This record gives sequence, C-alpha cells and structure tokens, in this order.
Amino acid sequence: MAKNTSGRGQRDLKVKVKTARGRKLSSTRWLQRQLNDPYVKRAKAEGYRGRAAFKILELDDKFRFLVPGARVVDLGCAPGGWCQVAVKRVNALGEKKGKAVGSVLGVDLQEVEPIPGAEIHQLDFMSEGADDKVKEWLGGKADVVMSDMAAASSGHKQTDHLRIIALCEAAAYFAFDVLDEGGTFVAKVLAGGAEGELQKLLKQKFAKVQNVKPPASRADSSEKFVVATGFRG
Ligand SMILES: C[S@@+](CC[C@H](N)C(=O)[O-])C[C@H]1O[C@@H](n2cnc3c(N)ncnc32)[C@H](O)[C@@H]1O
Repeated sequence: MAKNTSGRGQRDLKVKVKTARGRKLSSTRWLQRQLNDPYVKRAKAEGYRGRAAFKILELDDKFRFLVPGARVVDLGCAPGGWCQVAVKRVNALGEKKGKAVGSVLGVDLQEVEPIPGAEIHQLDFMSEGADDKVKEWLGGKADVVMSDMAAASSGHKQTDHLRIIALCEAAAYFAFDVLDEGGTFVAKVLAGGAEGELQKLLKQKFAKVQNVKPPASRADSSEKFVVATGFRG
C-alpha cells in the first residue's frame, strides 16, 4: 500500500501511496499528504491528538494568552489537541509548582476521550440554550474563549464559509458574555468575504483584532484565525 520510493537518505524519504481499487483519488491524495506532513509526525511524537494542536501552540507563542491560571473555554474541541495544549500551558493539573492553576472546559458535538485536567461535554453549541449550559459549567468568568468549530464540508465553498461565520459569531457573542476584562477570543474563519462583519463586531469590543495564518495551517486551505485581545468588558 504505502511504499518508499526515494533512493536518498532516511530523512528525505517520501511516502508515496499507490492508488487502490475502491479508494477515490481524493482519499489517496489525503492519505499521501497525511503520511508526509511533518506536523502529523510531530503530533504523534509529542502525544497530541492531531496536527491542529500546533495551530494553537503557534498562535499562543505569538499572543501569549494561555498563561498559568487562565480559565479557558474551547468550543469544538474534538478530538482534543487544543485542550491538551491548554491544559499544559494554563497549568490546569498544577504541575508547574508555585504557578497559578488554570482550568479548561471543552465542548463538542462529538464524544471526546477524557483529557486529564480538562472538563469536556458533548454538546451542539448551536442548539437552543447551549450557551447557558456552558456558562453554568464554567461557573464564572473566562480569560480565553477559543473556537476551532467547523461544520463538515458541504463541498460548496460559499455555504461552508457562511456556516463557519455563523459558528464564529455564536462563539463571539458567547465570549462577550463570559470574558473577563482583558480577555482573549480566538476563532477559526475562512477567507471568503463575510468575515468583515465579524471583524467590525470584534473591533467594538476588543482593543486589538488581528487575522493570522499560523504556519501549521495548510497553505492550500482558506482557513485563518481571528485573534482578538484586550476585551473591554
Ligand atoms: C477542526 S475540529 C477541532 C479540532 C480541535 N481544535 C483539536 O485540536 O482537536 C472542529 C470541531 O468542531 C466541532 N463542531 C462543529 N460544529 C459544532 C457545534 N455546532 N457544536 C459543537 N462542536 C461543533 C466538530 O464536531 C469538530 O470536532
């Protein structure tokens, strides 16, 4: 199935996937990309549940919002890479002695394998009353609301874009309700036009709003992240 075709040294080996009967060309391409993706390899080596973990690591390296003691809400958290990163960085397990202990609350449509240090609930964030449920679980204010929520692709670019903006807006209104002053909002958006309205909304509530494409976000994807810092309350 998978075969090394390069005659060069071990480090340069590229895995080439042969097309197989019953497998679509798009699946073969996906498999080949996965097998050759350095972030997929790093995720495996470092114990993260997916390459998405590196997106929040890189965003946090730049903006420093996951600090010890921070209270974090992670919307659309399955399979759990962002939660794993947040647990470590906010010291949710109290492993960094002498540093403040934070908390991580994750929600997703899908079931998530437990993550030590994180409280995780299965929930459709777009269902009625979902935001109240999350507020109740949170039991107070948050310092960070982050959303990597994305609906399954419809195959129609504009529809996908509008769906993700709706998820992002719901996350933003939730953030306005729960963030403490100075808090941070991070959310995935797709480049495509309608994100301008979201930017306008965020600019009224935060000191700084930036669009960022971290290196771990694939260059051929229209995904980017909006990072809003300094919530005005
Ligand atoms: C790209 S994945 C998130 C990856 C995650 N950040 C990680 O590091 O593992 C997007 C997630 O958004 C979730 N999602 C989409 N719509 C949702 C909704 N309405 N409510 C809750 N989760 C949702 C999906 O189930 C999916 O697991």
